[in-house]
Amino acid sequence: MLLTERERLREELLQLIGQIGRDRSALLPLLQEVQRKYCHISEYCMQVIADLLDIHPVEVHSVVSFYSFLDERPQGQFVIRLCRTATCDMAGKDHVARQLRNDLRIGFGQTTPDGKFSLDWANCLGMCDQGPAMLVNERIFTRVTPEKVHGILAECRQMFGAHATSSPKERQI
Ligand code: FES
Repeated sequence: MLLTERERLREELLQLIGQIGRDRSALLPLLQEVQRKYCHISEYCMQVIADLLDIHPVEVHSVVSFYSFLDERPQGQFVIRLCRTATCDMAGKDHVARQLRNDLRIGFGQTTPDGKFSLDWANCLGMCDQGPAMLVNERIFTRVTPEKVHGILAECRQMFGAHATSSPKERQI
């Protein structure tokens, strides 16, 4: 059973490499695709990617660790990362954080039981003049207010309904 899952994963990665390419520059786009599809990148997956791209596994691991939008642990369909760095802090990130916690009923570092949302902190997202800034998967939101949080979450729920897949727990690799 485990072998079948691993074979399936290898096949999928080979297909992705066929579309994206096999050289070093393919690494980040490949990892982004895996993250999009599986909501995380497992240790085993990193090993297979290193093997297929003929690079050292440490290189793959360091890229995954470097980018905040790549995760080693399973995440929800939508990963919300609120900037906690000084400028966004002064711009009112605490109010936004409270709203997110209340609406999602989870704390930072947690995932909702239905696997839709994960909530986390981020360091500066490069939008300091438009804070508080927040990332939802790869999309940036600026000047976020508690009121805006409702609309952003509603939009995500709508998208999740339209593109619902199995929960991240079922999609671990
Ligand atoms: Fe939040 Fe820079 S301090 S985006």
